[in-house]
Amino acid sequence: MRDPANGDRAAHEYTASVGVAHRRRHGQFFTPPAVARFMTRWVLDGGSSSLFDPAFGLGAFRDALPNPANIAFRASEIDAGIVRHWRRARREAGDFIAIEDYLLSWGRRHANIVCNPPYMRFQKFGNRHAVFRAFEKNLGLRLSGYTNTASAFLCKSLAELGPAGRMAYIMPLEFLGTGYGAVVKARLLESGHLFGLVRLNCEKALFPDATTSAGIVLCDTRTRHRAVRFHDVHNVCELDDFSALRPRATVPVRHLDPNAKWLPHFRAKRWRTTPAASTALRAYGKFTRGIATGANAFFVLRPSTARELGLNPATDCVPCIARSVQISLPVFDDADHEALRARDQPALLFSVGSAASTGAAFSRQAAAYIRSGEQAGFHKRFLTRKRNPWHKTEARTPARLLLGVFARGEYKVVLNTSRALHLTCFHGFAPNAAGGEFVDRLFLFFASRTGRRIASLAQREYGNALRKFEPNDLSDVPVPTPGLFATLHPADVAGAVAHMRETGTVPQWVDDRFAPLLRENKPPKPSSA
Ligand SMILES: C[S@@+](CC[C@H](N)C(=O)[O-])C[C@H]1O[C@@H](n2cnc3c(N)ncnc32)[C@H](O)[C@@H]1O
Repeated sequence: MRDPANGDRAAHEYTASVGVAHRRRHGQFFTPPAVARFMTRWVLDGGSSSLFDPAFGLGAFRDALPNPANIAFRASEIDAGIVRHWRRARREAGDFIAIEDYLLSWGRRHANIVCNPPYMRFQKFGNRHAVFRAFEKNLGLRLSGYTNTASAFLCKSLAELGPAGRMAYIMPLEFLGTGYGAVVKARLLESGHLFGLVRLNCEKALFPDATTSAGIVLCDTRTRHRAVRFHDVHNVCELDDFSALRPRATVPVRHLDPNAKWLPHFRAKRWRTTPAASTALRAYGKFTRGIATGANAFFVLRPSTARELGLNPATDCVPCIARSVQISLPVFDDADHEALRARDQPALLFSVGSAASTGAAFSRQAAAYIRSGEQAGFHKRFLTRKRNPWHKTEARTPARLLLGVFARGEYKVVLNTSRALHLTCFHGFAPNAAGGEFVDRLFLFFASRTGRRIASLAQREYGNALRKFEPNDLSDVPVPTPGLFATLHPADVAGAVAHMRETGTVPQWVDDRFAPLLRENKPPKPSSA
């Protein structure tokens, strides 16, 4: 039996001996022993005695085997240096490791595969043209330039998996929600061997450059799977008894569309929307991102700074909401903004827009401030250099309904009755001709318990429990029909807004009114892993 801490120690020594640049170049991040144990156990379940690891690294999966001498273990690894390190540390020849580029080594089959593939964007990958050609030739697969190496590893291994075999891949689950991922999902579905997906809501250090959480893709060629299990794991210990773990959803393969986002399946679909929520938000208008200044350090000012610069707060600046924390209650008005300014919060946007655009003169102090900005190089930033003049920010009107872009836990929704313009910390709702009269009702809906359940399905998952709204994703959110909204009397809506301004909480009757938009689903059946 091996020392279970061995892997961790070797990883630690290796990490200390090579630079982070080298590790990033090769995508060298190591699988925690508990996760590696689960993956190898699941793959070898049923007594199989052969295992292939296409990205060996420091051998986390070999270390996870209770008795490696009984397993025919083979591996690929591109980096001779990491293998040398492993050989020295272990005093083993390691003849089972082929030093090769897995993505360019074709023509093999493997009984079982376990892998933590390197995660790199293809744009940064030196061999990408040769790899693209090889994928087209061998798999008839055209990889998109946006594909990452992990997805390419997965597709290749899936094609190399023998009959009656199993495969476990730990990787970022980004491909489940992005455009390039459609081909990967299509391959998984076509194979008929996708057993399940396990989202690891606990692993953030595995793929530091990834934009979504990590997870494990489980494939099994012993049978054709008609449904895919979506597991959501918050603690690695839950993997110890995987067969007893209930999936959050078990989705029939025929209901899985490769072009759709699959991440919502990890969130308990304990309910479904009813016809009362059959209208998409786009029927009322759309959310757009806030003002991107391109240089907040220049454009966003504290009142004291504006005073020191001699700027006129009325003509050289406009009130703004620069940070999400500046709003703590769900209703925000001019008095709240005044309170921010009284606390000398950075809540003024340097904005000499209209005067500057017409070439008309603006104050001497504003002109001096613009010159100082140029001396500091703010006019050469990514966004500012594309604007003419560079110091003129977008012309916007205040949005009445705001939604916090990032959230851990509950998202922020705000009825903004102030004159303040929001920056990129919030998305603002722009109603269309039909939607203007419904904005306050939409605010109540997004703040309600039911609205939160529905809207949070549109959030993208980042590591470390961070969630993000993208404006386009919000357009598809199911919201109440105009008929249902019409049952909310204007005086009641105003009363609810006043209550929320006062208490910060949603009145019970609002929650009750929107509750019929969802109906409970039956709990999913336990998996038969
Ligand atoms: C994410 S690490 C995983 C290491 C180890 N299997 C583990 O789970 O801890 C990926 C490994 O793949 C190697 N690698 C990167 N590109 C590769 C390629 N094209 N072919 C084979 N190995 C590669 C890296 O050097 C790195 O050691």
